[in-house]
Order: sequence, then C-alpha cells, then structure tokens
Amino acid sequence: MCSDVVVRELRDADLPAVAVLLRTEWPDVDWEHRFARQWRNAPTVAGARPPRGFVHADRDAIRGFFGSIPIPYQVDGRAGLACIATALCVHPAARGHGVATALVAAFDTQRADAKVNSTPNAASAPLFARAGYASIDPAAGRHLLAHAEQPFGVLRKAWRAHKRGMVQSLLQVAPRAPEPALTCARLDAATAELDTLWQTHRGTHPTTLWRDRTTLQWLLFADPRCTVIGCRDGTGALRGYGACREERGELRQIDLFPACDDDVSFALGLASASLAAGRGIATVRLLSVSAPAARALQSHGFEPADDDLTIQVRGIDSHHAWLTRIDGDRWL
Ligand SMILES: CC(C)(COP(=O)(O)OP(=O)(O)OC[C@H]1O[C@@H](n2cnc3c(N)ncnc32)[C@H](O)[C@@H]1OP(=O)(O)O)[C@@H](O)C(=O)NCCC(=O)NCCS
Repeated sequence: MCSDVVVRELRDADLPAVAVLLRTEWPDVDWEHRFARQWRNAPTVAGARPPRGFVHADRDAIRGFFGSIPIPYQVDGRAGLACIATALCVHPAARGHGVATALVAAFDTQRADAKVNSTPNAASAPLFARAGYASIDPAAGRHLLAHAEQPFGVLRKAWRAHKRGMVQSLLQVAPRAPEPALTCARLDAATAELDTLWQTHRGTHPTTLWRDRTTLQWLLFADPRCTVIGCRDGTGALRGYGACREERGELRQIDLFPACDDDVSFALGLASASLAAGRGIATVRLLSVSAPAARALQSHGFEPADDDLTIQVRGIDSHHAWLTRIDGDRWL
C-alpha cells in the first residue's frame, strides 16, 4: 500500500463521472436523484461551507469517491455540524493501493463537531476503526435504554387484535394506560409546532440531530416513503412524533422525538402498529424506548429484537446521544 495517494475535494463537474463510478457498484440507485436529495435540497448550516465529498482521480478518470453530507447537529447541547459518510467506492482496478484509506483520512480532517458512518460493511468498517472511530453497539443500547439506536420490538401475531387502529381505544385496554388523553394522528407538514417541540425537549438529548422544522422537512416530510405520526395531549399540544417507513416488508420506526417521554413512546409505538395493520404489514420494528414504555409495549405483543445496525462515530459520546435510523445515510 502506498501512502502518497492524492485526493481532492469533490467539484460540481465531477458528479457525472462519480455517478458512473458508483453505478459500477450500486447499479440500481438513481444517483442524480440522490445527489439532489443529499446536497442540493439540504438546508444550509449557518457559517459552514463544508465539502460534499472527496475524489481520487487518475489522469481525468475518477477512480475513488467518498461522499460527505453536512447536517445540522446538536453536540453537547450546542448547535453544530455533523458530517455523514456516504458511498465510499474505489474502482476495482484501483483497489488495494490505499485509495479508500486516503479518502477516509480526507473525510476525517473536515472541521465538524461530529462524524457519523451508519452504513459500514466488512470492507469499510476496519478503515474507520483504524482511523479511531467508535462503534456504537446496538445490543448494549437495549440495556442503556434510550441512549443508543436499538429497535425494541417486532410485532408479530398480536397485530390483528389491533386492527381497529384507534390508539385511543388501545390505550384504554392497556394494562398501563398512563395518559388516555393522548391521541396520535398523521402530521402532513413540518409546521412551527415542531420548532416548539424541538426547543422544549432538545435539552433532554445533549447530542442528537438538530430537529427543527427545516431539517425535518428535508429528512422526513419531503420523503414520500415516510409517514410522520404526531402525538398530542388533551389540549391539542404536540408532545412528540414518530416517523415510519416500509423497509424489507416491515414497518420501521426510523425516528422518534423526544425519546424520554414514556407515555409518548408507548402511544407512538401502538400508533405505528395500527398504521402497519391498516397497510397489511405484519411486522413493526420500533426504536429503543425506556424500560417502562418497553414493558407496556411488550404487553401488546412486542418483543425484543436484534438489528443489523452498526454506527461508527467520532465526536459523539453514545451515552448522552440519541441516534436513530435517520442518523447517517440510511434515510436516503
Ligand atoms: C471497500 C473499498 C472502498 C476499499 O478500497 P481500497 O482502496 O481497496 O482500500 P485500501 O486500499 O485503502 O485498503 C484499506 C484496507 O482495507 C482492506 N480491505 C480492502 N478491501 C477489503 C475487503 N473487501 N474486505 C476486507 N478488507 C478490505 C485492505 O486490505 C487494507 O488493509 P491493509 O491496510 O491492512 O492492507 C473498495 O473495496 C470498494 O469500493 N468496495 C465496494 C464498495 C464498498 O463496499 N464500499 C464500502 C461500504 S459503503
């Protein structure tokens, strides 16, 4: 392996050639659409003009690429910036010469408060590990309650019983029905009440994605695959939301905020089950929730489940962070 591999920042003019390179590895992805979604449609982060990635060029041909998606983040309670790793790819003829190592090093030298790689595989995970990235262990997350990404439950046989779909009625029959006045319904737009929700609860999760309405519009509401469910109290005030998406035949909860309100987590978990039942989807996979909410959901047929999710991070203390499936590039 040589250590003198030259990489440079991605330029607009590189994009067609980058799409050609990426198609050799992932032929089914509409890369132009993805570039628009991850960069052109992204909200700008105040004061930051971070790179969107790095390339290795051999003469005029792009032989290696590593994307970076700047995303607003709260780190240790302060507004900041995270760089999300995406689509690390080296042309087969150029592999084994340290190109990926150089691209990861360039990604890592970016000035950002946190860096997140949510899609490592057997080939790329060691590159990040050697660069000092920490892996968040999903199995540990279950016992750390809501501090790390961990799907809690997979609903199997019990979903038919919930087919009437009314969260209100489900809460009434729940052994633990803490706030019967909570109701859940789809949110169609990212409105100002999401800003209020974020400002009210951001202190409970010192390190997490910056969930104002602008960021949520970009990540969740602009995605037609995504359904956002809001949870309201008896006065109509928004207490929390959960976002779901159908993936691999399951309905997966991909985001939940805040994560520390047991009643809201419980209500949104049941609402996700109702949504799945209405769509004829038998399996619902939720993010991890606190032990009381987990117990309440277990009494409704949910059971603990493992997940294939590994997240590699720098700048994030997993014990004080709330990470979900929209951290990293899995939402794309
Ligand atoms: C993974 C990939 C980017 C590595 O690119 P590369 O330029 O060959 O990597 P490097 O030359 O910098 O190698 C870095 C190290 O990773 C190891 N490595 C490379 N490919 C590997 C693989 N498939 N499995 C395990 N280790 C691998 C190398 O042996 C090297 O280790 P060493 O320094 O101890 O010799 C390239 O194989 C690729 O494009 N794969 C397809 C796309 C992909 O899987 N991307 C990652 C997930 S998004």
